[in-house]
Amino acid sequence: MSLLQEEREIILSNEHVDNFDFAEVEEFVKNASKELFISHHFAQKKKMLVQPRGGFPTYKKQFALNEFFVNANVDVLPLTIDSNTRLNDYATAKKMLRLSEENEVDMLNGYPLVNHGYRTTRKMVTHFNKPVSLRHGTPDARLLIETAIASGIFEIEGGPITYLLPYSKNFPLDKAFLYWKYVEKVCANYSKLNLPINRESFGPLTATLVPPAITIVIQLLEMLLSLEEGVKSFSVSFSQTGSMNQDIVMGHVIKKMAKHYAEQINCSDATINLVYHQWMGAFPTNKDFAEQLINMSTVIASMVGADKIITKTREEASGIPTKEANAKTVANTQYTLGILNGLPNIVDEEEEEILTLEVHAIMEAVFNDPADTLWRKVFNSIKNGTIDVPFSPHIINHNEMITIRDANKNIRIIKRGNVPIPDRCFEYEKSKCDLTKDTTSIVNDIIHDIGIMQ
Ligand code: 5AD
Repeated sequence: MSLLQEEREIILSNEHVDNFDFAEVEEFVKNASKELFISHHFAQKKKMLVQPRGGFPTYKKQFALNEFFVNANVDVLPLTIDSNTRLNDYATAKKMLRLSEENEVDMLNGYPLVNHGYRTTRKMVTHFNKPVSLRHGTPDARLLIETAIASGIFEIEGGPITYLLPYSKNFPLDKAFLYWKYVEKVCANYSKLNLPINRESFGPLTATLVPPAITIVIQLLEMLLSLEEGVKSFSVSFSQTGSMNQDIVMGHVIKKMAKHYAEQINCSDATINLVYHQWMGAFPTNKDFAEQLINMSTVIASMVGADKIITKTREEASGIPTKEANAKTVANTQYTLGILNGLPNIVDEEEEEILTLEVHAIMEAVFNDPADTLWRKVFNSIKNGTIDVPFSPHIINHNEMITIRDANKNIRIIKRGNVPIPDRCFEYEKSKCDLTKDTTSIVNDIIHDIGIMQ
């Protein structure tokens, strides 16, 4: 038996799993409907796919949510997982699920997939016969993704960096790399049986003043870590920055660079998609304003040429959205996409050149790390601050890089820390900012930036 299979058997013998039947699951994936594979829909390239987020504790409520989404003409259904499951605390999830079922109060902020199990969840997935995207935030997602794929969920979001640095303070990063290696291998193996399972990285990171160069580098590295394990369908992503021009520039550069680096490791046979997140920062409490913001995000996603858009709702500022509000966004977003015609093709060569140089320089520094494998190079690069994510709560992150917005709301780097931003690019970034301001005003600007859309 292979080492991977040995590990899988240990993971799946968890007391919260009800007899995982490897052979049956393989047979199911082999014969699963093409409609369930997002890779199939990406390949058709008919339109930008619209996908909300959404997870309720009980089967009944999740089912009802999906019915609403289907009526709103959804392209991809979500399955958002609760926080206890994300932290591998299946015992608490089980207890809270029971309380939710008995009292008609939601005691979890998402769907506890492991507790529901794959036999139950598969019934829902195959009933709707639409691709489902697993939305979580789990550093150790081994059991979760096994259960997801066995349920017919063939798109798996996350990655060792993007599901750790924004969410965790002290989960060991080296362990996250190894746990995600398992995820990539399992996805790659199942992909041989039918259409490819798609993996998607989580580009928004902390959604707080993250400069495009850092976002793109992390997207590319998670893509490479996935492709090198044999994944054949991968989505890079990012969220609205607050500057339409910067979003468009990012879209061009990330697409070009993803293709370039996939070729470098002889993986040009893999399909790379681009996913755009509607505004991921703090939302206005005014629900009508929230709708305006959402609508603008949809327009930008079109300008960026995204293959999929992930939606927000008018209730974002107040908590988990109702199924009605959530479905309404889907219908609105489809409407906006349907009437967007004759989009102009905007290219900002100077910005693209600067961003490309920055990304290449950081990638070079990562590759030049003396470690023997890519994950160790990336691990070291985060440890030594070559990669630095603004506002990450994780103890390993340097937090030495400082970014602010320029007059056009572009995110600019004014302090590099250990990130190897080339001098020319750094001078360009700073030249766009008003650095005559005193430090207190700059700090105030940064603090108030969180409310930029409010
Ligand atoms: N249902 C719907 N949306 C959710 N989000 C998180 N959990 C849920 C859920 N159970 C959304 C929120 C949050 C984003 C990351 O995901 O909009 O801001």
